[in-house]
Amino acid sequence: MNKNNMIEAEAISKRYGETQALDRVDLEVAAGTILSVLGPNGAGKTTGVRILTTLTKPDSGRAWVAGHDVVAEAAAVRRKIGVTGQDATLDDALTGRQNLVMVGELSRLRRAEAKRRAVELLGLFELEDAADRIVKGYSGGMRRRLDLAASLVMRPPVLFLDEPTTGLDPTSRRRMWTMIRELVTDGATLWLTTQYLDEADALADRIAVIDHGRLIAQGTPLELKAAIGSQLLEVTLASPHAGAAEAIEALASGSVHITGGGLRLRAPVASEHGLVISALRALDEIGAQVDDIVVHRPSLDDVFATLTGVAPSPDQDEETEGVAA
Ligand SMILES: Nc1ncnc2c1ncn2[C@@H]1O[C@H](COP(=O)(O)OP(=O)(O)O)[C@@H](O)[C@H]1O
Ligand SMILES: [Mg+2]
Repeated sequence: MNKNNMIEAEAISKRYGETQALDRVDLEVAAGTILSVLGPNGAGKTTGVRILTTLTKPDSGRAWVAGHDVVAEAAAVRRKIGVTGQDATLDDALTGRQNLVMVGELSRLRRAEAKRRAVELLGLFELEDAADRIVKGYSGGMRRRLDLAASLVMRPPVLFLDEPTTGLDPTSRRRMWTMIRELVTDGATLWLTTQYLDEADALADRIAVIDHGRLIAQGTPLELKAAIGSQLLEVTLASPHAGAAEAIEALASGSVHITGGGLRLRAPVASEHGLVISALRALDEIGAQVDDIVVHRPSLDDVFATLTGVAPSPDQDEETEGVAA
């Protein structure tokens, strides 16, 4: 165990029946930084959070949080962590303020202290106006903010946020991002799971990509994006053409992936400036007929395609933001 790490997992594995939810995952998070664990539904993100927050035991491997073993010293770990998850702990029948006061009292704060902390957190999370309304009527974004506030009542140095923005509208997501950033400015160490590449990119110091329980890549957002390309060029041809890959390669910053029996070509590109026109010209010159051409930011599917070498299926939802010709 490295003393600079607030969180450290060493070859943790967990199996549920036939499903290998986590498969020998090694990860570490330095104090005061955000690790984003990025992966699709079912990747094993929540299983990892449950192990590190002592809610479930790993089948094998070891993990430490704030220097304490998550199995042997579970109680000590619990005193150091805050958790916000998909199964929220809020009481719908209470107001936002009452929820926060209750959490404080359950954690043995005196009532006056719990009330004071509630006021502070309601302010921090911009919930003052809704403070005395029943949580049942809160919007999704307000609920998430209150849930996050509840996890902060005892000022834990380590926080686990399990998909804190899934299902939120873009404005609420941005708002949540701002608040998450502030937590780290205040010195917290964060383990944040997400299905969104842009979220990991916006918030994380390091990103760990997991799929089917396996860690398939990790690095800084810059390192991962360098591997993926900042933009992707995708060309669909009317019919396969032997020279097309070479023509595209000349414009690309990495290798060209060919799928669909030679019809679909995709390549990372450094900049989209003038690219569609250049690509169309180059393909036209060799007599390749273009059906469709688009430049877009890599989606999570693209990240996985690049990292695993498996092309995403064409019917998947991609965050296409591109220029169609
Ligand atoms: N309690 C459980 N019983 C059976 N299977 C589970 C259980 N918890 C998780 N799984 C399975 O383990 C895999 C990983 O789940 P999970 O960690 O929840 O993924 P994620 O949070 O990334 O969506 C999934 O295939 C899921 O169905
Ligand atoms: Mg989950």
